[in-house]
Amino acid sequence: MKLTDLRGILQYIPQFRDKTFILAINGDIVTDDNFATLLLDVALLWSLNIRVVLVHGASAQIKALAEDRHVTASDLDGAGVTDAVTLDLALSAATRLTHEILEGLSANDLRAACPNVIIAHPLGIIQGVDHLFTGKVERVDSELLQLLLNQGVVPVIPPLGFDGEGKTYRVNSDGVALAVAEQLKAIKLIFVTSQDGVLHHGQLIRQMLVAELGKLVQQDGAGFQPEMLSKAQHAIAACNVGVPRVHVINGTMDEGLLGEVFSNHGLGTLIYANEYEHIRPAKKKDVRAIQMLTKQAVEAEELVKRSKAMLEKSLGDYFMFEVDKNPVACVAFHIYPEQNQGELACLYVSSSHENQGIGRKLIQFVENRARELGLSELLALSTQAFTYFQSKGGFAEGTPDDLPPARREKYEQSGRNSKVLVKKLK
Ligand SMILES: CC(C)(COP(=O)(O)OP(=O)(O)OC[C@H]1O[C@@H](n2cnc3c(N)ncnc32)[C@H](O)[C@@H]1OP(=O)(O)O)[C@@H](O)C(=O)NCCC(=O)NCCS
Repeated sequence: MKLTDLRGILQYIPQFRDKTFILAINGDIVTDDNFATLLLDVALLWSLNIRVVLVHGASAQIKALAEDRHVTASDLDGAGVTDAVTLDLALSAATRLTHEILEGLSANDLRAACPNVIIAHPLGIIQGVDHLFTGKVERVDSELLQLLLNQGVVPVIPPLGFDGEGKTYRVNSDGVALAVAEQLKAIKLIFVTSQDGVLHHGQLIRQMLVAELGKLVQQDGAGFQPEMLSKAQHAIAACNVGVPRVHVINGTMDEGLLGEVFSNHGLGTLIYANEYEHIRPAKKKDVRAIQMLTKQAVEAEELVKRSKAMLEKSLGDYFMFEVDKNPVACVAFHIYPEQNQGELACLYVSSSHENQGIGRKLIQFVENRARELGLSELLALSTQAFTYFQSKGGFAEGTPDDLPPARREKYEQSGRNSKVLVKKLK
């Protein structure tokens, strides 16, 4: 690990301190080789005062146990009909699994407990089919959960619910995770699966606004595999009840959890409740961020080198594009009032966020400002992205004669021989 990674992590700490994350772990992850590492990461999150609750599924174990016992399970994931045999399988498999998780947490010196916090009632008869011992989460005993969390105890919640008469019901673990996340006002619900994230027609969804995912599920729900459709539906429900971020990650990957939590470019899927990106004017503290961001492009001669003093002098012209409060792109907008022209410069999008339309949003942003000011032309100079400005930004190739005289002089001195791009605004 590099020291700069540590800096990257530290910036998230104030945001996450004393907040709650719900980790919804698929049963098959518990038996994966990487599970011990995942629990180590949970211990790390706790050490940073992040309150982590574990909810787990048990489908894989119910399936295996049914095979061992030579019986057939009526349903595996707690969404279909649970007959008496399957309830027995679920009780044995889930209890065993909870125990394994408690063992793993103990091995990481974490105090943990399995409380009966899920109050359920029978799902009942749906379209004429009695779902028998399948339950629906009615309530979460959040008081008990808070009590445990306040004492630094990690709650481990199996996919089982209890009613007021002491009966047990099999509940769907995604539903449990959703209910717990809502009740505890969690800031993150993280589904830990054995897939890379939510796939739609085999294509990984990296980041998506909840409204867009809702549309996709409605219009083309068949494009998701059943397990991922459930994750997508629960992610939508979670965002709609106030959980700002839902992640779906691959728990078999080393660093999958930490990579997702402590970076803007996790490897899995992020569903977010609101626009978490925005463009703002650069501040003094951004000088370093601009230099760090553009370092690679400067080395590749895509951008001209700007010293700290140069940046500080014209900082008022710079804008930062933030994702979750972290700068991932920048742009500058210089104005030449005498010629009624503007110049878009220093456009850079971090490689982790390429091809997501951020470059276009920044061009549009600068163009809008130029139009608001009534400028007649927007200029840009580029050595390697001129076709980008043409095809994505609507610029046309110009000549150095299009530049304001002082700018032209600088252009000639630089010897960079950049292409001049012009966009007429009037
Ligand atoms: C050029 C740059 C700003 C694009 O940002 P971005 O946010 O990734 O771009 P968008 O998401 O808006 O657009 C992506 C599209 O542009 C294309 N594209 C990206 N870089 C390109 C380039 N240098 N030349 C031509 N096309 C390019 C992509 O292939 C993609 O095409 P598609 O939509 O047809 O698949 C970014 O790659 C960058 O920072 N480059 C280095 C710095 C630089 O050259 N800046 C310009 C000088 S001021």
